[in-house]
Amino acid sequence: MAKERTVSGMRPTGPLHIGHYFGALKNWVAMQEEMESFFFVADWHALTSDYADTTRLREYVREMVLDWLSVGLDPDKCAIYRQSDIKETAELHLLLSMITPLGWLERNPTYKEQQQEITTKDLGNYGFLGYPVLMASDIIQHRPQWVPVGQDQLPHLELTRETVRRFNHLYGEVFPEPQARLTPAAKCPGLDGRKMSKSYGNGIFLRDVMADIEPKVKGMFTDPARLRRTDPGNPDVCNLFPYHVLLADRATRDEVRAGCTGATMGCVQCKKIFLRNLEEFLTPLHERRAQFAANPGLIDEILAAGREKASASINATMALVREAMHL
Ligand code: TRP
Ligand code: SF4
Repeated sequence: MAKERTVSGMRPTGPLHIGHYFGALKNWVAMQEEMESFFFVADWHALTSDYADTTRLREYVREMVLDWLSVGLDPDKCAIYRQSDIKETAELHLLLSMITPLGWLERNPTYKEQQQEITTKDLGNYGFLGYPVLMASDIIQHRPQWVPVGQDQLPHLELTRETVRRFNHLYGEVFPEPQARLTPAAKCPGLDGRKMSKSYGNGIFLRDVMADIEPKVKGMFTDPARLRRTDPGNPDVCNLFPYHVLLADRATRDEVRAGCTGATMGCVQCKKIFLRNLEEFLTPLHERRAQFAANPGLIDEILAAGREKASASINATMALVREAMHL
């Protein structure tokens, strides 16, 4: 029986942090073992909002591929490619735009939210409104069963599924309806308690060395009510504890919880445990990154090979699409 297929992408807007790892990449690394997997750097999608200054776009694409390789995405097990390398995606996007009602796009909650929240750039563009049409094209061109995404992407995926139903209804069954493979919610608060984000400078990045991380962790907010070492703390309101849930073994986690609530462990010691676990987690990532970074031609080779694999899959779909639409 043919393997199931999966597709996912990320916009290259800067270095990835550990929230990206636990929220998405960990799942991708697992999926490449079971399925025919396509992972792409969504550089066209980055343009939907960051169109005004594209000077660092290529650099971000390469950095993102390095981040992916460092966590263990393996170009022998999956296709790693750049969205803009495959022109058929633009063809499919155009065809899907013919059958996508404007109302679907205008009612998309993510669209409305971002229009309101992002005030630093003008998002009144055709491309930004059409974001989900491009995303639908990215996905269905591989005719996948599964799309690993976070909760925030569900409205987009629902639009993809609606598009599939409409296409199949109009032209015949070409596409399966892809399902979300939700990444279990991993709580990764920023070091200051806000959302972890590049622009807040409150993140731990996959490429950070311990010398970058130590001062950030030392300054990290913990339980605000725990002023002295002798005050009992509450791990459930502490910013750091969720990281023990992700990185520490069970015994350590229990020990920290007991030490914190019983005031036998101070935050300084707790942070030391966190730093040790982080180092253990990041060391193999940094080793892999260094291997790939040592040979700059390697990223180009990986993207070229990924493009070949992705093209084969997409060309097969596009032949069906053109046939179904009598083009
Ligand atoms: N919209 C996704 C995000 O912002 C990125 C993305 C683009 C994507 N195309 C996709 C994700 C296709 C999954 C499948 O994170
Ligand atoms: Fe947070 Fe650890 Fe301090 Fe408890 S001991 S408040 S879990 S940092």
